[in-house]
Amino acid sequence: MASSLTLVTILLLTVSLISPSRSATCQSQTFTSNKLYTFCNDLPSLNSYLHWAYDSAKSTLSVAFIAAPAKPNGWISWAINPTSTGMVGSQALIAFKDSKGAMTVKTYNISSYGPVTESKVWYEVRNSSAEFSDGVMRLFATVVLPEKGKSTVNHVWQVGPSVTAGIPDKHEFQPANLNSKGSLDLLKGQSTVSSGGGDSRTNKKNIHGILNVVSWGIMFPIGIIIARYVRSFPSADPAWFYLHIFCQVSSYAIGVAGWGTGLKLGSQSKGVRYTVHRNIGIALFSLATLQIFALFLRPKKDHKLRFYWNIYHHGIGYTILVLGILNVFKGLDILNPEPKWREAYIILIAVLGGISLLLEAITWIIVLRRKSGKSTKSYDGINNGHGRQEPLAA
Ligand SMILES: *[C@@H]1O[C@H](CO)[C@@H](O)[C@H](O)[C@H]1NC(C)=O
Ligand SMILES: *[C@@H]1O[C@H](CO)[C@@H](O)[C@H](O)[C@H]1NC(C)=O
Repeated sequence: MASSLTLVTILLLTVSLISPSRSATCQSQTFTSNKLYTFCNDLPSLNSYLHWAYDSAKSTLSVAFIAAPAKPNGWISWAINPTSTGMVGSQALIAFKDSKGAMTVKTYNISSYGPVTESKVWYEVRNSSAEFSDGVMRLFATVVLPEKGKSTVNHVWQVGPSVTAGIPDKHEFQPANLNSKGSLDLLKGQSTVSSGGGDSRTNKKNIHGILNVVSWGIMFPIGIIIARYVRSFPSADPAWFYLHIFCQVSSYAIGVAGWGTGLKLGSQSKGVRYTVHRNIGIALFSLATLQIFALFLRPKKDHKLRFYWNIYHHGIGYTILVLGILNVFKGLDILNPEPKWREAYIILIAVLGGISLLLEAITWIIVLRRKSGKSTKSYDGINNGHGRQEPLAA
């Protein structure tokens, strides 16, 4: 029953990964000073909200940015990036408590990853202020944009845990911290997820994602299902074995290609490290390579080491299954595609899980029937105790 437990675990894991959807809450937010803004948006990450009013004739933009700092003595920031998307190049307003404990707002021209220094920015700040209550900070500012008629801007927002000697310390590099960027249509009132520039890097990330989802996330699990369940049908012998080998070897090939694109993306990514995703990826590659060795080191069926080989092969197989699916979700967090992709994958995995549970039941029925017919052979639930000859074993 080990594998049905594994599959149930995966199902539960999958359900817990479905992120709850949020309804527009910014419309119910009000301000103590009765300030009114034309538009508001629930920003897609870091539980943040942006309210704004834009006067295109004067090119003035009034904003209220609301977010909880990562820790009570931390900071929140909202920025416009006039030259690019993301953090580098952004012209930031950062709100935090100064040394006397009063809320302050300062401006930063962020030209690289690393410590920030207060400086002039691309826009002129008419006035700014900030408040802190109930764990939430509110940053207010009226700025004059230097380019008249530019009604769509790239914006970035962030929250940080602490401030040292008047300098905001670096924020975390979790997916939520890295996806907190978008494009803001000041006139239409829409904030859209920026595609990261729509450049070749995004394409590479998509290719990396597709290769790895197909390999680790879909084909490996199917290959395991074939090995575990299809073999119980006498008519599927020895076809299941070749199908299993075919599935796992081709998913290994695709997986190695996907792994290579991941290494390349990692080496090109300046300042941003997706440590967990990367380490799981390396572990997957190593374990899968071990499985390929397992094919060549496979002792004959009656060999006394065959028992240990089975433990080794199945143990690594199930580890790859769990880590592979986990890393698909880690990758989805980073890539942050439209929700339908995550949903589609969840449905696919749930269907595979459902099929496995069904086949698990059928397998047990077949095995028990066979057992009552031929009482000399026993079935141990994991190993090939059903006494049929496997190809390539001899
Ligand atoms: C911000 O810093 C960059 C790099 O140091 C510089 O090229 C740019 O002119 C600065 N922007 C402003 C508005 O000062
Ligand atoms: C900026 O100043 C204007 C005029 O004095 C005032 O109406 C507005 O509320 C101020 N905005 C902020 C963010 O303090």
